[in-house]
Amino acid sequence: MTSIEIEKKFRELFGSEPLMVRSPGRINLIGEHTDYNDGFVFPAAIDKEVHFAVAANDLGKFRFYANDLEERFEMKVEDLKISDTRWANYLLGVAAQFKRSGYEIKGIDCVFGGDIPLGAGLSSSAAIENGFGFALNEIYGFGESRMDMILKSQKAEHEYAGVMCGIMDQFASMNGKRDHALKLDCRSLDYEYANIDLKDYDIILCDTRVKHELASSEYNTRRKECETGVNILKKYDDKIIALRDVTPGLLSAHRDEFDPVVYKRCNYVVQEDLRVEEAFDALKHNNIKRFGELMYLSHEGLRDEYEVSCDELDLLFDIAKRSDDVLGARMMGGGFGGCTINIVKKEKTETFSKEIEKEYFSKTGTELKIYKVRIVDGTGLI
Ligand code: GLA
Repeated sequence: MTSIEIEKKFRELFGSEPLMVRSPGRINLIGEHTDYNDGFVFPAAIDKEVHFAVAANDLGKFRFYANDLEERFEMKVEDLKISDTRWANYLLGVAAQFKRSGYEIKGIDCVFGGDIPLGAGLSSSAAIENGFGFALNEIYGFGESRMDMILKSQKAEHEYAGVMCGIMDQFASMNGKRDHALKLDCRSLDYEYANIDLKDYDIILCDTRVKHELASSEYNTRRKECETGVNILKKYDDKIIALRDVTPGLLSAHRDEFDPVVYKRCNYVVQEDLRVEEAFDALKHNNIKRFGELMYLSHEGLRDEYEVSCDELDLLFDIAKRSDDVLGARMMGGGFGGCTINIVKKEKTETFSKEIEKEYFSKTGTELKIYKVRIVDGTGLI
């Protein structure tokens, strides 16, 4: 699906001249469930994108069309609120944030669609929020910065989609840079790009095609478990406001005061933050092997301590780990389904894909989907 198709549909439906915007999904190399603990993440924007055709109208209405679903949606601007149409909420949520900042939106026509697989953990929702916010900002000349738009997208997700996500997805989609991943400090929001040159290796995503029901309730439970841990430790040091501030030594010194489950959760997060820093350095020094090992460790922590993996993800991880053609692999995103990310020898990607597809199908009865991804620039004009 191309932006030309989106533009054509827009003209057909609304007849005016649209602004064209693209907004990418994201991968995360390492640093999972660390963003809402004020820690570090290492994501990148990828060549799976949502494209938008957007223009102002003077009808006082939001008129949206989801090209992939072939569904229309309309709401009066003065009635702006959460709707029963799930996909429309991502756009409405962003419009609501601009309104809250005191900006006036008179009316908006929008057609959007793309190739980010839904529910695969590649942040299609962040891409939609960012792309729509970016278009509004351009069309009305609001002058909001990329950072402002990222925060608006995140709030839209909290308030209109009901997911208490961290900042990683929106940040990576908006601020991605071609051939670079970004190491983001989720507290200060400082970030640093690292050139991703994996030499003889490619990034391959394996999509389980499952999304277990647990995903959003467990996500919010994990957040609470982390907060419980912080509350125990802050008695000993009032500078501790998030797991980001906790050292492995401090955590283990107070192990007895923890419920064992909460302890495991906290230990995972504390270790994962350290892994992100180490992985960033390893890539800077071209130590791809160490980078891969850290990915394996990340998965093991997510599986055994944070417990957000699932059988399908673990199966893909096991197959990848025992292959000589793979340097590193792990589940990616919130968990309970979605994709694994794999660093696979370039000349072996086909053999690897065939083998993993075959074994996955024979053990689960589900067809695996495989995507080879390139790292691209963040949200912008087409
Ligand atoms: C989801 C959330 C992100 C992040 C990841 C886990 O993708 O939207 O904010 O917490 O899960 O790393």
